[in-house]
Amino acid sequence: MTELARVRELAPHFGLPAAAEVMPLAGGHINATFRVRWPQGDVLLQRVNPAVFPDPEVPCRNGAAALAHLRAKGAACPQPWPTRDGALWRLEPDGCWRAFTFLAGYAAADAPGQRGGLRAAGTALGTLLAHLEDFPAETLTPALPRFHDLAWHSERFAEHALRAEKTLGREFWRLHHALGASLGRRPLEGPPRVIHGDTKLANVLLPRGGGPAVVVDFDTVMVGTLAMDFGDFLRSVAAPETGQAEASATLMGRVTQAGRTFLAPLALREGETLAQLARAPAAMAWMLAQRFLTDHLEGDRYFRVATPGQNLLRGQAQLALASALAALAPALAKALALPGAKPQDAP
Ligand SMILES: Nc1ncnc2c1ncn2[C@@H]1O[C@H](COP(=O)(O)OP(=O)(O)O)[C@@H](O)[C@H]1O
Ligand SMILES: [Mg+2]
Repeated sequence: MTELARVRELAPHFGLPAAAEVMPLAGGHINATFRVRWPQGDVLLQRVNPAVFPDPEVPCRNGAAALAHLRAKGAACPQPWPTRDGALWRLEPDGCWRAFTFLAGYAAADAPGQRGGLRAAGTALGTLLAHLEDFPAETLTPALPRFHDLAWHSERFAEHALRAEKTLGREFWRLHHALGASLGRRPLEGPPRVIHGDTKLANVLLPRGGGPAVVVDFDTVMVGTLAMDFGDFLRSVAAPETGQAEASATLMGRVTQAGRTFLAPLALREGETLAQLARAPAAMAWMLAQRFLTDHLEGDRYFRVATPGQNLLRGQAQLALASALAALAPALAKALALPGAKPQDAP
């Protein structure tokens, strides 16, 4: 059965009319996402991928709880579209299906031409973490165990060291080791916080007419650290739009601006310092590099590839990005301490 036929089969359970137009949405890399539109309605229907989430009901449950918490605080967030039985998701043999009202008139913050929205994206993510500060962490179950466990991903990559060195080439292998030396053993640690878990720009929607950005994709809400969400956001902000190198001053300006807006709504806790947060973007890029490279060496089982070798290229690109970000870290820590951040946290 084609994916579209499957969507048509599921549609009545969500009260979606048979005559509605169905369009697959590009954008996400994990779930299968569709827009279902008819004259009176516009809905995003999604299959949570059971190949990625060991129990696809877990991300649905965590995400729904986080959204209910945010809505109670009046935050702009996705509006769940329940099934005809009033449930927030429907478990099927091919995964968990759920729906949201489609946010028409928004563009993902990583779309071409959206760079002007970095501040709005930073504000939305920082505000989100502030809203999650009193979320009951004990009610969350890890949807992806070890997702942001840098030491674990490094150990898995190290198991392939002999082949990895040959495959990567001398220069990238050297970068990998230099990153390990400069980032230290636990660059992502910190006091536990409820975090979004996937704060890349693709998960922030910017309204075309201005106004507050909306954060989507609550599948990975988890107990983690500020460094993880802050680092992943700035890693995503730092990724060059065209795939080409840029002057480090341009990169620094963009990362500083986005980082300040992210931190502005938050009060840092004991154990969260600007010096450590400034290393987090490099640490997240380095972790992602090792995940891509491990997957390449293990036959592309996790990250979908369009062509063989794509995960090797992705891994090399993240290693280069991690190096650039590690070089910026001391200056970033100072820049974050300027007005807008908290001077007592200066390194
Ligand atoms: N409620 C929504 N309205 C409009 N677009 C959305 C909505 N939710 C998500 N999207 C878009 O769909 C893409 C994929 O959805 P997402 O939940 O992030 O799935 P994935 O886990 O595959 O990343 C997002 O990057 C975003 O661009
Ligand atoms: Mg997403």
